[in-house]
Amino acid sequence: MSAYYPPEAYGELTEGIREILITAEEIEARVLEMGQAISRDYEGCNPLLVGVLKGVVPFMAALLPAITIPIEVDFMAISGYGPEAGNDGGVRLEKDLNVPIAGRHVLFVEDVIDTGLTLSYLLRNLRSRKPASLKVCALFNKSRRRLIDIPSNYIGFELPALFVVGYGLDYRERYRNLPFVGLLKPEVFQPAEE
Ligand code: IMP
Ligand code: MG
Repeated sequence: MSAYYPPEAYGELTEGIREILITAEEIEARVLEMGQAISRDYEGCNPLLVGVLKGVVPFMAALLPAITIPIEVDFMAISGYGPEAGNDGGVRLEKDLNVPIAGRHVLFVEDVIDTGLTLSYLLRNLRSRKPASLKVCALFNKSRRRLIDIPSNYIGFELPALFVVGYGLDYRERYRNLPFVGLLKPEVFQPAEE
C-alpha cells in the first residue's frame, strides 16, 4: 500500500491525467531498492548527494531515508534547458553548492534524464572541481530522447519518449505534488507563448 492518497484524492490534478504510467507504490518500492544499492556501493565513503531544484525534491526526500549509511546532501538550481525553455541557449547556474566537492564522492541525483543536455553541462561543471568520483542517480530515464552520451549509474524507471508529470515533474509548475507519474490529456496543454 502507498503512504499517499489514491489518485482520485488529487481531484483537478488527476482529472488532467490521461494515463498513469508508474504508480505511487511502484515508485516507493523502487526508491527503497535504489537506496539499498547506494548504501552498499558507498559504504565508508561519506558521499555527497547533489540534487537540482525543484524537480528532484520528492525523489530526494524519499531517497535520503532509504540510504542507511552516513551521507550529506546539497542542492543546485539552474535555469535554461527543458521542454518549456524553448531555446538552446544553455544553462545558467542560479544557485551553486554550499560546500566544496574536491576529493569528495559525489552522487548527482536527478528527477529525469531526457536529452541529457542539462546533465551534461552540470557534470562538466562538477568534474572541473575535481571530486574523487562522480556518479549519476536518476529516478526516470528517457534513453530514446538522448542527444548526448552521459553516464547513468542508478536508474529507477525507463520512460517512453513522452512528456510526463508528477513526482516532482511539472507542466507550468503544476502537478509536482502528484505521488505517481502520468501523461497529460491533450486539452491541458496551452499554446506556447511567443
Ligand atoms: P534534459 O536536459 O533534456 O535531459 O532535461 C532536463 C530537464 O527537463 C529535467 O531535469 C526536467 O526538469 C525537464 N524534463 C524533461 N522531461 C520532462 C518531462 O517529461 N516532464 C517534465 N519535465 C521534464
Ligand atoms: Mg529537473
